[in-house]
Amino acid sequence: MADDNFDVVIIGGGPGGYNAAVRAGQLGLKTAIVESRGVLGGTCLNVGCMPSKALLHASELFEAAGHEFSTIGIDVPAPKLNLVQMMKAKQDSVTALTKGVEFLMKKNKVTYYAGFGKIAGPGKVVVAGNDGSTSNLTTKNIVIATGSEPTPLPGVDVDQKQIVDSTGALSLSAVPKSLVVVGAGIIGLELGSVWRRLGAQVTVVEFLDRITPGMDTETATAFQKTLTKQGFTFKLGTKVTSAKTGVKGVELTLEPAAGGAQEKLSADVVLVAIGRRPFTKGLGLESVGVTPDQRGFIPTNHFKTAAPGVWAIGDVILGPMLAHKAEEDAVACIELIAGKAGHVDYNLVPSVVYTSPEVAWVGQTEEQVKASGVAYKTGKFPFMANSRAKINHETEGFVKFIADAKTDKVLGVHMMGPQVGEMIGEACVLMAFGGASEDLARTCHPHPTRSEAVRQAAMGVENWTMQM
Ligand code: FAD
Ligand code: NAI
Repeated sequence: MADDNFDVVIIGGGPGGYNAAVRAGQLGLKTAIVESRGVLGGTCLNVGCMPSKALLHASELFEAAGHEFSTIGIDVPAPKLNLVQMMKAKQDSVTALTKGVEFLMKKNKVTYYAGFGKIAGPGKVVVAGNDGSTSNLTTKNIVIATGSEPTPLPGVDVDQKQIVDSTGALSLSAVPKSLVVVGAGIIGLELGSVWRRLGAQVTVVEFLDRITPGMDTETATAFQKTLTKQGFTFKLGTKVTSAKTGVKGVELTLEPAAGGAQEKLSADVVLVAIGRRPFTKGLGLESVGVTPDQRGFIPTNHFKTAAPGVWAIGDVILGPMLAHKAEEDAVACIELIAGKAGHVDYNLVPSVVYTSPEVAWVGQTEEQVKASGVAYKTGKFPFMANSRAKINHETEGFVKFIADAKTDKVLGVHMMGPQVGEMIGEACVLMAFGGASEDLARTCHPHPTRSEAVRQAAMGVENWTMQM
């Protein structure tokens, strides 16, 4: 039994929790972080962003070696997949990153408790240590950063072998011949891409009549076309009502979303990726009078919960469930705790889908701008007309700017194309400074780079595009 006294105790060691801990340490607050999984880094580092990006990178190279190298004059024998090594390389990278977070805790004098944290009343957290110990912490502030978990699909029970969620799909021991993905969201399309590139036949079943809700519709339509060309099959407007597993694989029963005749669909493996839900199980919220909303999110006002001294950040509160959003929440929350002016502009949280090509966007979609009634103009530039993309044989996609017709202020930027995830940052900076498309259109960009397409799209708003 250990007892200690802190300024801030953070429950959860993901991007929300560990960034909060670092900022609190930097500001001189006596800080503890509690994490039950045995390693820091949360969903993102352990079973989310990082392992998925490792597999996306490796599978992209595998596919390029098989199909693209010869077109540019590199003749290599047909690549052979060593899945065990690919998984090991992924895990090695993850371990290096999680160790890095542990180092950051030490560097910022944050005490790390490896165990499950439970709020036991105002200013009290009890940690059931992974080693069997119990620690009673007292603190001026509690920050809840307990994140999220996959949303289950009734009738389709995850066994992490034949029916997997994202965690299982990051560690399959063999490439399935056929993979059915339930949910055409970001997880489904990223992990579907990984296994398609490695040899699986991928069918995506989506409840809505479109893919990637939340993405600008024109961009989503182009994205779906591209994925279809790559070999994805989409069954839109369809729901999965049940699943039966057996030695021959999984048999799914499907139905039109609006109701109607059932059909069967078989697969070796089924990935359920229909969203994530906040995780607050066993947290002891009732001991401080905090009640999650109907969907399980902790209600907050500038990260303050209904209980004085109890704050919440990241996936467990409303807003996009993204690592960089959790990080923004974390810094702002700790700055507020320290009496500073923490602030997050949620309109400027970018989204990236790390498929090939990538899709990235920030600000409002064209539909949102239209619905707001603001008069707007757009500028669009295709990568087909960008010299660097052409030289690299990566001409799929475009950049689209949406600006206020009167003021020229940029309202949204949407991109599909080669590594656009690296390019959306310049749109974020422009918009953070309240920039107009003319500001970007008049900013010199290096040649030849794909970023010239961003400038050209901004020039398109002004009608100056150099498009061929
Ligand atoms: P989490 O990262 O979920 O961390 C919460 C931690 O709290 C967990 O480690 C959990 O074990 C711990 N915990 C919970 N309850 C307790 C308790 N009572 N006591 C102690 N510990 C507790 N986002 C991106 O921005 N980019 C991406 O590329 C991306 N890719 C993703 C890919 C996948 C497959 C998945 C599943 C997610 C991805 N995300 C991505 C989303 C991202 O992982 C989350 O938005 C992010 O991890 C949220 O951070 P968080 O700190 O709020 O919660
Ligand atoms: P998602 O919300 O992106 O997509 C879920 C999809 O499933 C939606 O298209 C939805 O309409 C569909 N759906 C819901 N119920 C269904 C049903 N019963 N049958 C068929 N389809 C159904 O959720 P996803 O992909 O699970 O990802 C969860 C979160 O993880 C996302 O919100 C995202 O923020 C985060 N993430 C981010 C990544 C990134 O930034 N690159 C990568 C992976 C995840």
